[in-house]
Amino acid sequence: MLRAFFLFLSRATWAKNLIMRWGFSRRAAARFIAGEQLDDAIRVVAELNRQGLFATLDHLGEHVTTPDEARRAADDYLVILDRICASGIQSNASLKLTQLGLGLDDALCLDNLRRILRKASECGVFVRVDMEDATTVDRTLEIYRVLRSEGLKNTGLVIQAYLFRSQADVRTLMAAPTRIRLCKGAYREPAHIAFPRKSDVDLNFDTLAAMMMDAALAHGSPPASADGKIPALPAIASHDEKRINFARRYAEQIGLPKTALEFQMLYGIRTDFQLALAQAGHTVRVYVPYGTHWYPYYMRRLAERPANVWFFLSNYLRS
Ligand code: FDA
Repeated sequence: MLRAFFLFLSRATWAKNLIMRWGFSRRAAARFIAGEQLDDAIRVVAELNRQGLFATLDHLGEHVTTPDEARRAADDYLVILDRICASGIQSNASLKLTQLGLGLDDALCLDNLRRILRKASECGVFVRVDMEDATTVDRTLEIYRVLRSEGLKNTGLVIQAYLFRSQADVRTLMAAPTRIRLCKGAYREPAHIAFPRKSDVDLNFDTLAAMMMDAALAHGSPPASADGKIPALPAIASHDEKRINFARRYAEQIGLPKTALEFQMLYGIRTDFQLALAQAGHTVRVYVPYGTHWYPYYMRRLAERPANVWFFLSNYLRS
């Protein structure tokens, strides 16, 4: 109920205009956001690196409404890539296709992503295409397929365990192979395409994780570092200890080396666990969002956990 409410708010312009005006909501959101400027995010990533954690930088933004905005968003990513290279931080980049024009002008979106991937490949940075709501999945897969066929291999996708279609998608993508980030899924989807019950999502998550690890093993032994050159590096993106422990056990059981698997978590969530996994010898990558368009991202974080709503309300009461 609460989840549906906050996911509804995440797309409501009136709520966005209202909530972004309140100073206390910015303070509450700051827990999950590395700052408003690229410099803030670079500082956060440098500190994560110092602690033995990798990162993926996300310049917040989605559902742009004009072609110019889409082009500017792509230009911003070119700057981010320059800064990643110049600063020497260990970071990938993550982006959303509706930020680059998907749904507005798909050809423009393709062209924007192409520009980003070319630049990223010059500086050896891996770019992850986030997955958005289910209406975007087919077009996201198609854009990925086109750019891969042009030889741009420094990119990967996200699969959402709540969708019924995901096992079929993983089977097709892993044959390529593809670097997949597996997550539970953060959007509001109807019951005819997505599991409504959390227990079913969890079960599907483990099944998909196992499929990805089996395929990664079949694609051969990886080099000794998780630096973007592994063709099928599976990434388990969750804060759920049961999912993570399943993946660790399964990898050990089939003999998949630790360097052939990544765990990913969001900035500001379960920081202790991130460090513990890294100290146990796993590659841990933290998703680091920054920028001024934090509203929908923050609403999705509130939707995931009622305790975050109390934190939001306590900031309101304090203000
Ligand atoms: P679950 O929601 O069951 O939470 C397990 C535990 O984690 C909770 O009990 C709590 O302790 C902690 N936790 C989870 N969420 C929290 C929160 N918001 N605040 C505080 N604690 C929290 N989704 C998508 O649709 N497309 C995408 O591209 C991505 N990309 C992505 C990248 C990365 C690196 C991560 C970690 C996640 C995503 N997601 C995503 C989001 C994902 O789909 C999912 O909504 C969240 O990760 C929450 O699900 P969990 O797997 O953490 O489990």
